[in-house]
Amino acid sequence: MTFSRVDVAQVILGDCEYCPVDTFEAWSPVNIALCKYWGKRNGVLNLPVNDSLSVALPGKGTHTRVTRLQVGAKDIVFLNDRPVHEADSFYKKVVAHLDLFRLGRSDRFRVDTVNTIATAAGLASSASGFSALTRAVAGVQGFSLDDGALSILARLGSGSACRSIFEGFVRWHKGEAVDGMDSCAAPLSQVWPGLRLGVLTLTGSAKKVGSREGMARTVESTPLYSAWPVQAEADIAILEEAIAARDFEQLGATAEHNALTMHATMIASWPPLLYWEPESVAVMQKVWQMREDGVPVYLTMDAGPNVKLLFEAQVEGSIRQAFPDVEVVKLFP
Ligand code: DP6
Repeated sequence: MTFSRVDVAQVILGDCEYCPVDTFEAWSPVNIALCKYWGKRNGVLNLPVNDSLSVALPGKGTHTRVTRLQVGAKDIVFLNDRPVHEADSFYKKVVAHLDLFRLGRSDRFRVDTVNTIATAAGLASSASGFSALTRAVAGVQGFSLDDGALSILARLGSGSACRSIFEGFVRWHKGEAVDGMDSCAAPLSQVWPGLRLGVLTLTGSAKKVGSREGMARTVESTPLYSAWPVQAEADIAILEEAIAARDFEQLGATAEHNALTMHATMIASWPPLLYWEPESVAVMQKVWQMREDGVPVYLTMDAGPNVKLLFEAQVEGSIRQAFPDVEVVKLFP
């Protein structure tokens, strides 16, 4: 039995009371994975092969407002105050997500979405974007949903969006069900006020191969992929222990090793996938040298050339000195 995205939305929303309002606004943060999501068991529903664990970036993300239009109008989409043409792939993705919430009605919407992060910063805005859109369109339809249901619906837009429904540390449970009703994220209770993330924007150029295609290529073409879910499962357990014990070295080392293992599977794909630029490698080598010199700093990277640093408040001065362009994010109040 296969399920479409509409089938899944129907199961979740079919019994919800429809209490439409004129407009609804929502916010969601960007998240950075410490144990990555890489590989799908179902590409339509964005069901992952492995659990993943992320941390949200407070204040960095997406604000979305959904406003009801007259029945019969065309959906309108604005991104960062600019209209998006209906031929644009972004418009199509947004409208396909709105479709899940119409349930056969002819509701039409205007979507205003604003990212509080520069698009060039190398922080995926699709996660915060689909999460905020999910909250806003559910709100404008007056559907009363818990965060677990919102997380499943956000996942249908982009996998990592299911984690952006929550703040702080978040684990996405991969689930086992074919319809993905058990594949959603949940927050961890721990906070870590001293934890910092440094964003290094090395290049703003658009990546050539997106995550969706990159994952599919990796799963299909490299024998190394079979090792990935095994390592991800072990890493997530170690990360949860590190968070509970506030053991920074364990957290940083596990997150860095996890990211580099994911990249190793990409590089071993065919045709090869290498997201790194010379600047990325220079940062990696600098981070490793700093560790040798006694500064506890680790790195993580997603499907792009930019590098994110993990460190604690007490070394912020050394990090800023070594990387004058770094943008430092305090992860917890
Ligand atoms: C490398 O969530 O963007 O950032 O589900 O196809 O939309 P789709 O992929 P996406 O992939 C994110 C991949 C990653 C790792 C992560 O965030 O866990």
